[in-house]
Amino acid sequence: MCGIVGYIGPKSVESVLINGLKKLEYRGYDSAGMAVLDGAELSTRKALGKIAELEKQLKGQPVDGTTGIAHTRWATHGEPSTINAHPHLNNERNIAVVHNGIFENYAKLKAELMDDGYVFVSETDTEVAPHLLEKYIDEGFSLDEAFVRMLKRLEGQYAIACISEKMEKKIYFARKGSPLILARGNNEYLLASDIPAVIPIAHEAIYLEDEQWGYITEQGVSIFNLAGAVVEPQWQSVSLKEEDVDKGDFEYLMLKEIYEQPDVFERIFKERIDDSFIHFPELKFGKEYLARVGRMLIQACGTSLNAGMIGRMYLEQYAHISAETDYSSEWRYRNPLASGDSLVVGISQSGETADTLAGVREAKAKFMRVLSFLNNINSTMARESDAMIHLMAGPEIGVASTKAFTAQVLNLLFFSLYVGSIKWLLPAEERREVLKEILALPEKMRKILKSHEQIKQIAEYLKDKNDTIFLGRTYNYPSALEGALKLKEISYIHASGYAGGEFKHGPLALVSDNVPVVIIAPQGEIRTKMISNLKEAQSRKGTIISIITEGDEEIKKESDYFVEIPPCLESISPLLVAIPLQLLAYYTAIARGCDVDRPRNLAKSVTVE
Ligand code: F6R
Repeated sequence: MCGIVGYIGPKSVESVLINGLKKLEYRGYDSAGMAVLDGAELSTRKALGKIAELEKQLKGQPVDGTTGIAHTRWATHGEPSTINAHPHLNNERNIAVVHNGIFENYAKLKAELMDDGYVFVSETDTEVAPHLLEKYIDEGFSLDEAFVRMLKRLEGQYAIACISEKMEKKIYFARKGSPLILARGNNEYLLASDIPAVIPIAHEAIYLEDEQWGYITEQGVSIFNLAGAVVEPQWQSVSLKEEDVDKGDFEYLMLKEIYEQPDVFERIFKERIDDSFIHFPELKFGKEYLARVGRMLIQACGTSLNAGMIGRMYLEQYAHISAETDYSSEWRYRNPLASGDSLVVGISQSGETADTLAGVREAKAKFMRVLSFLNNINSTMARESDAMIHLMAGPEIGVASTKAFTAQVLNLLFFSLYVGSIKWLLPAEERREVLKEILALPEKMRKILKSHEQIKQIAEYLKDKNDTIFLGRTYNYPSALEGALKLKEISYIHASGYAGGEFKHGPLALVSDNVPVVIIAPQGEIRTKMISNLKEAQSRKGTIISIITEGDEEIKKESDYFVEIPPCLESISPLLVAIPLQLLAYYTAIARGCDVDRPRNLAKSVTVE
């Protein structure tokens, strides 16, 4: 949801900012822009579309200087256009502001500023900020005072950065509700929405907290709270390397992240499993408390919710905890009832998703305890939850979530086994059996990844369709939802996932010779029920694409296309099923010529409601 980056230092500002923006492109790619100070002269460049468009413009009209800010946009207020692209300027065109978030009271502020004679050129909420700053500077306030006065007028959420001809070699910044980090390299300082934008320059970073503001100069950083008190900078070393966030030899980041999954699992095993015991060293809740939890209320969005739906079944199966799931955006508005033994769970890759974060805050406002499963442990959700479990998927940059999803399911499974053991309700024998199956997953995943040629053929068939249905039951009903979500978000083919049992209660009407049906039917209790779904679809001329356990000749015979997964315990099969579903979406999108890492209208981190 928009990315911002700023730099002061000896390197070429233009190239540092462009490199930073490219690492933030996952946050939005409707337009991009930058503002640079050369001495006391402010230059701005803006381009509609991806960062490559801005780069093209800069080739013809380069900018030079020592201080600069830049922005990549995911449009909220005002259509994607050059005029709505950031940075936004005041009327004298000597103050430039970039912003991630929404100024919720912008309409009121805009009306007030227009009454005072300020002229607006864009449809954005952001433009009120440079005009407000100009107003307070004109009223005689110092730059610091004007900046704080402006912040106090702005309602909603923001990460902003600002440069001006009035403040050479200084970048003002502020954060409330949207992520912002400061970073330092060798005699150079940066700010950005996320860490990837500051590597390889930065050795250390500071994760700003809400309502902090300040500035970076050539000499260092100054941070304050809104009351004006100095905040001592807490530098942390940056361990991320460039290769962690680059696509390497892969065509797209999404494909790299799909292929990383077996390695991610092995890394998680190293941290979590010791002999046949499971560990959560980062978990702040003690065993006594966890053993008393009777109900878990899981709230998350998109893929993370699909992972939570599988987790719900693990909690019931292995931890004997009653669990429910809901979209965060619904959960927080529906007066959820909780007793003393209830624990609210947030699941999020980014830890910055506005709806999930709002769910966490709602829970805390109702005095409920919150446990979050997070990939980004420096995120706002990490700070605001009572306890946290680290997903350890490594940085996920591809807009479509892949390795974070399987890491979420795996960590939820480990957590359920852990709590079941604490409560003495999960026999050690069963725990060992499940763990043995889990440890075999990476090799099985590698085997599935080798079936990419077969999946490409299915994608060739699927690429010309307009609709696809995904069916699964119990553990693989969420897999059907996730398979459909992956396909629609990157290939733009309409896809819906249904619980197999619900198929005949309505969705069956959609099936025709032009609507393929993906049947998820690994070995296990529900396999025969899935065969019934297959038959129902087949007799309505639906093309059958099945995901089956190796050697399942019966379903193979009935399918137009199939992908095999190695045999495994039914409960952990979603962890294998996920891979052909991800590859199917990926290769279908490629066959349709889609930009997989930048799906239209989407951004990875949804930091607005
Ligand atoms: C889909 C996808 C989204 C996210 C959702 C939540 O591939 O990535 O549906 O899962 O926006 O994001 P996080 O997990 O960061 O809260």
